[in-house]
Amino acid sequence: VPAHVPPSVVHPFNHWNTPEYLADPLGFWDDMRHRHRVFWSPRLGGFWCLTRYADIFAAYQRADLFSSNPTVAIPARPVRLVPLTLDRPEHTAYRRLLNQSFAPTRVDELSVEIRARCVELTEAAASSVALDFMKALAEPLPSGIFCKLLGLPATEIDRFIAWNDTIIHVAGDPQSAERQREANATLNVYLNELVGFRKAHPEDDLVSWLLGSTLDGRPLTDQEVLDMTYLLFMAGLDTVTLALGWSWHFLATHPEHRRQLVEEPGLIPNAVEELLRAQAFVTPARTVTRDAVFAGVQMRAGDRIMLPNASANRDEEQYPDALAVDFRRESIRHLGFAAGPHRCAGSHLARAEMRIALEEWHRRIPEYRVPEGAQLRHRGGADIGLEALPLELTARRPGVAAAAPVPSGVA
Ligand code: HEM
Repeated sequence: VPAHVPPSVVHPFNHWNTPEYLADPLGFWDDMRHRHRVFWSPRLGGFWCLTRYADIFAAYQRADLFSSNPTVAIPARPVRLVPLTLDRPEHTAYRRLLNQSFAPTRVDELSVEIRARCVELTEAAASSVALDFMKALAEPLPSGIFCKLLGLPATEIDRFIAWNDTIIHVAGDPQSAERQREANATLNVYLNELVGFRKAHPEDDLVSWLLGSTLDGRPLTDQEVLDMTYLLFMAGLDTVTLALGWSWHFLATHPEHRRQLVEEPGLIPNAVEELLRAQAFVTPARTVTRDAVFAGVQMRAGDRIMLPNASANRDEEQYPDALAVDFRRESIRHLGFAAGPHRCAGSHLARAEMRIALEEWHRRIPEYRVPEGAQLRHRGGADIGLEALPLELTARRPGVAAAAPVPSGVA
């Protein structure tokens, strides 16, 4: 523990493997927020961790004091993610391009594809009696949409899921690090070939669009297109998968909330916001740029700092009855997508995927539950969420038959 850290704020925490965090991530943050405004974990090289909405919101706005360059991960990830790991002014022009490609009108066009995919996946799910929700909907939906964005065949979905899994969620031992490096290298080769191919054969897809775009009056280089595509892969698949997992787990274990959505589907857009608020799962990190007092403690240049959105979003000083999930809550402004210059560029797309998935699923499958005695495990890291979510489907809309028998050991 460095000399500038008061012993009273030291609390060992590692978001990959602290058992109480993996067992109950939201409960962990609620507890830490009540104990500390800010704490220091000596794990993973040592880092600060803020807990309150006001401080985390302020930190996102203070990019001069809390830099995203060269990494927003703890431990540091030696990968350039454009524009996530860039500060202003370099960040601004890239971000403008992303804003165009994920503007609400573009997402409206994609919504047709999202709905078609949700119908296909939920119809297949509705014929089961028991399933793993992550495999049935949460993983294939965002991967399928990513294929559509990049103009790739749906046969690539399984590879994307496997790469994503290895790169984002495997951590810790040297063997895993080696697997991670390999997956990273293979993905880079794949995306690099895709960029080369689209350069020669442009189509109506995101990579072709980026290749035809200009930045400060000059065309983007192939490397820049690759770096941006790589970031979209990292940012857009796993996050939506985890958000769906968190949401369905909540609904499966809170029948009154679930019935509210079945009976009043008009509540779904607000429910999406409330679920993203109450169950945020991304914990970005920054590097302190100069010595400064922040959140009541002395920070030193070079210190790392974690910004847990879950803790901010459940802060009782910010929201009345903050721990309750209320689908009728008004004007929900939350930090699930962060804030400031790096606020999520794909938030419209993420919301559309969640909204349409909730609509199509509950149209077909109004009643479901987590089987009694099921052991649920979270995968840790900067994005935390369920590894698997076993569900028993206990009612489906008339006309949808249950085809599969209950697999032994599931129910
Ligand atoms: C529910 C799903 C999602 C959540 C909770 C989420 C959350 C976040 C958060 C917290 C950040 C800020 C990271 C930081 O400040 O260090 C971020 C950035 C970003 N997200 Fe998302 N995200 C989601 C879905 C998506 C999707 C679907 C895409 C696009 C395909 C996407 C693309 C991006 C990009 C490009 C950035 C970097 C923006 C920049 O650096 O300016 N995200 N996201």
